[in-house]
Amino acid sequence: MSATALNTPPSSRPIVVTHGGAGADARDRDGCAAAANAGMQSLRDGSGALQAAVAAVRVLEDDPRFNAGTGSVLRMDGVTVEMDAAVMDSQGRLGAVAGLRRVRHPVQVAAAVADTPHWLLCGEGALRFARHIGAGDHDPVTPQALRKHQSMLEKLRRGERLVHGEDNASFAQHWNYPTPLAVAPGQACDTVGAVVRDAGGHYAVAGSTGGCAPALLGRVGDTPIIGAGFYAGPAGAVAVTGIGEHIVRHLLAHTVHGWMADGMPLDDALRRALTLFDPAIDIGLIAVNASDSGACSNRDMPWAAAEGAQ
Ligand code: GLY
Repeated sequence: MSATALNTPPSSRPIVVTHGGAGADARDRDGCAAAANAGMQSLRDGSGALQAAVAAVRVLEDDPRFNAGTGSVLRMDGVTVEMDAAVMDSQGRLGAVAGLRRVRHPVQVAAAVADTPHWLLCGEGALRFARHIGAGDHDPVTPQALRKHQSMLEKLRRGERLVHGEDNASFAQHWNYPTPLAVAPGQACDTVGAVVRDAGGHYAVAGSTGGCAPALLGRVGDTPIIGAGFYAGPAGAVAVTGIGEHIVRHLLAHTVHGWMADGMPLDDALRRALTLFDPAIDIGLIAVNASDSGACSNRDMPWAAAEGAQ
């Protein structure tokens, strides 16, 4: 387990914490640092916490090393990318998208959903909404994603189990793609995220993911599900990464927020969260509250923080 807490004084000193996904390469921390700095710059430019979180996640979505936006994993047909994203702040703003295709910054679309009468749009409706707000057509497939897909197929050919606790055959059994399964189906399930505390003491969280591979068409994990992959409230903000099917069962982000609201130190809350899971399940979290911020994962997880002046 790797866990770190940054100790900041109990104040409204602004801070942005970002992560690049549980199980991602810790050497990619520079990408998280660039994202945290973008979020902090957004605060310096006068934005609130939510806009800063979006600014940070946009940088991670543009970095092809991370499984979000450009660089998202391919679905099992080797051509489809379906992305999820969400935003929330402690002042009541909430927006999310699921199964969104061909958009460069899903997190920006999620932020725009917060201005509609709804909180979550999915599939074709989300895409049509994205175009309505001016998000142009974008192919997020990268050479790295294609290589990852090939490597997954190789593992399938060798009969290696790809999803903890799940038989590879179940993907063939429930196959729901319009094209046939080319080969019976390394699991990838990273997410990117940011949590922010602004100078006014408000909190925000934003997250974005290409989802898991392998996965059936239309699969949605924890990232756009309130209380599971993200939560922001009066006690702070929490972003979660890892395997969504397990995270949702614990409503993990809301649970950790609740522990902090009850007075548990942030670092203890993050460490306790990991104990809820079988160690074979990738899990990671970042969080911020009134006095602290930090990150914790049972895998390598690139993350970074940028702090502003008081
Ligand atoms: N945590 C990302 C997902 O399960 O989709």
